[in-house]
Amino acid sequence: MRKLIFATNNTHKLQEVSSMLNGVVELKSLADVGLSGEIPETADTLEGNALQKAQWVYERTGCDCIADDTGLEVDCLGGRPGVYSARYAGEHCSPEDNMNKLLAEMGSNSNRVAHFRTVICLIEQGKPHYFEGRVDGTILTERHGNEGFGYDPLFMPNRFAVSFAEMPPEVKNSISHRARAAAELTRYLTESSAI
Ligand code: IMP
Repeated sequence: MRKLIFATNNTHKLQEVSSMLNGVVELKSLADVGLSGEIPETADTLEGNALQKAQWVYERTGCDCIADDTGLEVDCLGGRPGVYSARYAGEHCSPEDNMNKLLAEMGSNSNRVAHFRTVICLIEQGKPHYFEGRVDGTILTERHGNEGFGYDPLFMPNRFAVSFAEMPPEVKNSISHRARAAAELTRYLTESSAI
């Protein structure tokens, strides 16, 4: 089976994305290929960060690899926190701090439209390809549920009456931004291997 290195130190994410790729490729972790250290993420777009992380691996291994970056983009905040979602409330902030800041910035604004967007960058024989996945929804006025991570307790996807944090993980993982980006990548890999 074809192998790709995934530019992440997060083993949970590696497992989640591996299962979303449906056995089309085998993902190798950074540890599997003997890489360690902090991967730089200093771009100001999701595409830029995904490319930067994938390039970091490619420069060190010369192997085909993928990297992802995700942001929560809120309409009434002009797309913030976006690429800064992980450190919205400051450099070493917790998910609680980020959710508090989001609720404070939105206040009682009635426009609560938002989406999560994931960009996966594949570097294949030195050339970058991008795959995007997005899930639309709204930001709740208070937290609901204990599953998931990050902003999940505040995000209710369209066509559901519960937040991401109230869903069984397998339901979230079947409709999420990451799942949709992974599906685009899977389609590309399947089609290109059929040529
Ligand atoms: P990353 O690019 O996957 O590291 O995601 C950046 C940040 O976006 C995370 O630290 C979370 O705050 C947020 N985030 C990404 N994916 C999700 C999700 O599925 N649910 C809730 N928050 C998420």
